[in-house]
Amino acid sequence: MTGQTAPAAPSQGVSVDVPAKINPHLGVGDARADGYHALSTVYQAISLHDTVTAVKRGEPGIEITISGEGAGELPTGEDNLAHKAAKLIALYAGIEPDVKLHLNKRIPVAGGLAGGSADAAGALIACARLWDVEIGDAELHRLAAGLGSDVPFCLKGGAAIGTGRGEELTPVQAKGSWHWVVATTDTQIATPECYKEVDRLREDGIGRYSRDVDPIVKAFEAGADADTLARLLVNDMEAAAVSLRPQLASLMHGGLEEGALAAHVSGSGPTVLFLATDVKHSVALARRIRMRGGARSVHLAHGPVNGPAA
Ligand code: C5P
Repeated sequence: MTGQTAPAAPSQGVSVDVPAKINPHLGVGDARADGYHALSTVYQAISLHDTVTAVKRGEPGIEITISGEGAGELPTGEDNLAHKAAKLIALYAGIEPDVKLHLNKRIPVAGGLAGGSADAAGALIACARLWDVEIGDAELHRLAAGLGSDVPFCLKGGAAIGTGRGEELTPVQAKGSWHWVVATTDTQIATPECYKEVDRLREDGIGRYSRDVDPIVKAFEAGADADTLARLLVNDMEAAAVSLRPQLASLMHGGLEEGALAAHVSGSGPTVLFLATDVKHSVALARRIRMRGGARSVHLAHGPVNGPAA
């Protein structure tokens, strides 16, 4: 984004679709001095997305409304990451914010799918376009990283290796497309809670840092089939998520019994991803997982897909 967008008239809105992220490889290292954990991850953006719409209010201020899945559970004030994003863009441009932001949510809340980070990425882009702010990619990335570790990837989408605390990205040219069944649960896990549990389990000698992302990166680049990918999925947070919410184990086991190639906790959970052979298999698998019960909602998704700033 370099300001080529025409200035928007007050009545015009800007709408941005931002995909959820998953981590087919999530290696978690030790806590650093700043409290964050070193990560060695591979991100994939999937077709489940939120839509962020920005229109001018006609007076200074940032107003947020939310619709869709879990809308009632989210703050609409300054605590909302999209609010912080709008404020940051205004600060960067040296202008008074003047925006009504609407978040239409399809990404489950606090599910390990970066829903809040996706909304922040969407708000950065939508506000920059609405206010005709000239901002280069590097600067946008810097603002995104300040908002959260996953926000830079949410801007980019596609597939990427994430290092540092997840914000340092190296794009991966993925050839294939993989089909997932996304099963949400009735519980939530706050990200810091899951990292703390990882640390606690490590003190007991449980779990290790899966630093090597090469096998899965090569599989992405080669367009490997789902059977191959199923054997390469890694999540160092999975044991912690299951330890915090033991009911995840039966959901995962149930999906495998119904024919999933793999069951994989998404990020810090508690959403569970099931890998299917192809789209047809994913439709049948989703139906069987729904009928079995135990999930709050079951969605179909494929990835990688492009992000809003791709
Ligand atoms: O970066 P973000 O704000 O999304 O992180 C939320 C919390 O998750 C952090 O405050 C930290 O407790 C934990 N975290 C971590 N290591 C990371 C990313 C997040 O410990 N690499």
